Amino acid sequence: MKILLIGSGGREHALAWKITQSSRVEKLYTAAGNPGTEEFGENICIAENNKEALLEFALKEKIDLTVVGPEAPLAAGIADLFEKHGLNVFGPNQRAARLESSKVFSKKLMQKYQIPTAEYKSFTEANKAVEYVKEIGAPIVVKASGLAAGKGVIVAQTEEEAVGAVETIMKDEKFGQAGEKVVIEEFLEGEEATILAFCDGKSIRAMIPSQDHKAVYDGDKGPNTGGMGAYAPAPVVTAQIRKIFKNEIMEPTLGALQSEGIDYKGIIYFGLMIKDGKAKVLEYNVRFGDPEAQVVLPLLETDLVDIMEAVLKEELDKVEIKWKNQKALCVVMASGGYPVEYKKGKEITGIKEADSSADIIVFQAGTRLKDGKLMTDGGRVLAVTALGNSFEEVIDRAYKGAKKIYFADYHIRNDIGRKALEK
Ligand code: AMP
Ligand code: GLY
Repeated sequence: MKILLIGSGGREHALAWKITQSSRVEKLYTAAGNPGTEEFGENICIAENNKEALLEFALKEKIDLTVVGPEAPLAAGIADLFEKHGLNVFGPNQRAARLESSKVFSKKLMQKYQIPTAEYKSFTEANKAVEYVKEIGAPIVVKASGLAAGKGVIVAQTEEEAVGAVETIMKDEKFGQAGEKVVIEEFLEGEEATILAFCDGKSIRAMIPSQDHKAVYDGDKGPNTGGMGAYAPAPVVTAQIRKIFKNEIMEPTLGALQSEGIDYKGIIYFGLMIKDGKAKVLEYNVRFGDPEAQVVLPLLETDLVDIMEAVLKEELDKVEIKWKNQKALCVVMASGGYPVEYKKGKEITGIKEADSSADIIVFQAGTRLKDGKLMTDGGRVLAVTALGNSFEEVIDRAYKGAKKIYFADYHIRNDIGRKALEK
């Protein structure tokens, strides 16, 4: 099979790593990819949002399966376009992708089908939104409805901060069109977890639970990032929570999509808040999480291409999905200053030394080759992933791995996995 993978982050490096373990894959192309994905195939220089050029490439190269990593091309309807031309594509169509591309849509869906989530109201006018903030008071959460690269959510501790957030989103239009509507939401306490699921439109199967670390500093302090580290399986998702999740959240979400006439094929990412034995949905995404993919995929024993094909054939209920009985944990090495302001173009050394053993994999995200040297090229640069038999082991291994790697001004969190140890 010839596979085209779309995207260029750490998630896509992990997907490339896993996809090419399938004996059925002859050739992998990644658009646009990074130096990490290049080790598993050929990078092609087409931007992830250039769907016409991607279609032309897929038709010309007779691609058997296209796997879409990030949300933006899905929200822009790449799956619809590829399907129209008879191509197999793993990822939801544009209507289905509203689960992530419109928070107003997803909140309404959850409300209509009684899927547990935070209380909310949505607004198209800033002054009405501000009135509501003043009525409810802080803490309160302000969200741009559209896609904002993970930056459109402000968890406000004070009323002033929340009012400021409404103004930045709606008046200063910081996120452009994505901020034409805002969702204002009840603040939920608890511990977060991610459950990814495969969905073929008829059935839905949960993967092992994971936990991201969104804040930039230790102890969940500082602004939110795309994710500074992750581990799996997350012990906060107990057997009881899994059961509740399946019955109250996962199956009802599929039921809701079906009732709305939405044929969902791909990944559903459930961002959950867990407290007192209950789970609520914080958000849906329509793709693998990043860096959750970097810990979940290494624990997947089953051939991922087989699962993706089963999804396209609506035979997901027939595949056996097996997981390694191990733990995985990754530490993200980011550029100093991320997620606010940071510099690119610093030389990276030590990756070979770090991932010389089978239980360490260094996934690349914001990297680029220049004159044969590996340079930083983004906020999140690397995810050092360790596998092992206990959380103590994987924490130790991942941090020892990260220590061997260097680039100027790098930043890591030092407490990835601490919550798992406490359990
Ligand atoms: P979202 O993109 O909607 O998941 O929001 C990003 C992050 O903001 C989440 O991972 C949480 O850490 C936080 N967050 C979102 N909604 C809430 C909420 N209702 N209560 C508390 N924290 C939230
Ligand atoms: N790690 C959070 C996300 O992928 O949205």
